[in-house]
Amino acid sequence: MQQGSNHEPYNFNFAALQLNNDDEDLNDEVVDLPQPTRGRFFRDEDPQLLREWLAKGKTLEIEIGSGKGLFLLNASPMHPHTTYLGFELAAKYAWEAQTKVERLGLSNVHFFACDAVAVIDQDIASESVDAVHCYFPDPWWKAKHKKRRVLSEQTLRNIERVLKPSGQFHFWTDVLDYYELTLQAVDHVTTLTGPLFVCEPPSNHDMDYRTHFERRTRLNGLPVYRSRFVKASST
Ligand SMILES: C[S@@+](CC[C@H](N)C(=O)[O-])C[C@H]1O[C@@H](n2cnc3c(N)ncnc32)[C@H](O)[C@@H]1O
Repeated sequence: MQQGSNHEPYNFNFAALQLNNDDEDLNDEVVDLPQPTRGRFFRDEDPQLLREWLAKGKTLEIEIGSGKGLFLLNASPMHPHTTYLGFELAAKYAWEAQTKVERLGLSNVHFFACDAVAVIDQDIASESVDAVHCYFPDPWWKAKHKKRRVLSEQTLRNIERVLKPSGQFHFWTDVLDYYELTLQAVDHVTTLTGPLFVCEPPSNHDMDYRTHFERRTRLNGLPVYRSRFVKASST
């Protein structure tokens, strides 16, 4: 694996969006993950709506496990020509984030209550995504539960498949074991280049973090392990 120094930080401006710190009830680990009620989607979610969003625009970024949506709510107004889709298994969080989208009038982002693993596997075309983001995925500490981790070898293969040439995969976690095993798996099952170096951006205000979990981790003085991978450009 190779180390690099490229970093393209998003321009966080959470305060400007006048969103609150409402991460208090975001679980450290969702012990009993809710299961989608209609295939890979929860009730009220429309697979046709996902197809319409996937067909929008030329630049598409997706987030696996978007939680309460801080990252996409922040990034989407900064990059109005990029389409952002958040996939979140906890329907409550997905719908709360989508309510914020509507309240803020953001037109280039949508949160779906769904199983991201299944959606990426079944709904997303090869070489159609510019960036895949996965921040602080549930660690599933117990050995017998580790197979539930979203970044399985099969998901990593799918992430490589859906990325366009030069597309990027961003993976951050506070769990060193998950970080190291995932980096090994990326090296083993994909041809993505990385991990490339990602610096820790300074925080300029109370919500100036990439995600709620990054905020919580850093405020607790704990390390965040960041990585970025790039798919080879086409020749
Ligand atoms: C530890 S939280 C991190 C949330 C957010 N990324 C952050 O950094 O604040 C992990 C999230 O992943 C979601 N999740 C777990 N498995 C998932 C899956 N298969 N599809 C979509 N979301 C999933 C959980 O419901 C939870 O909200």
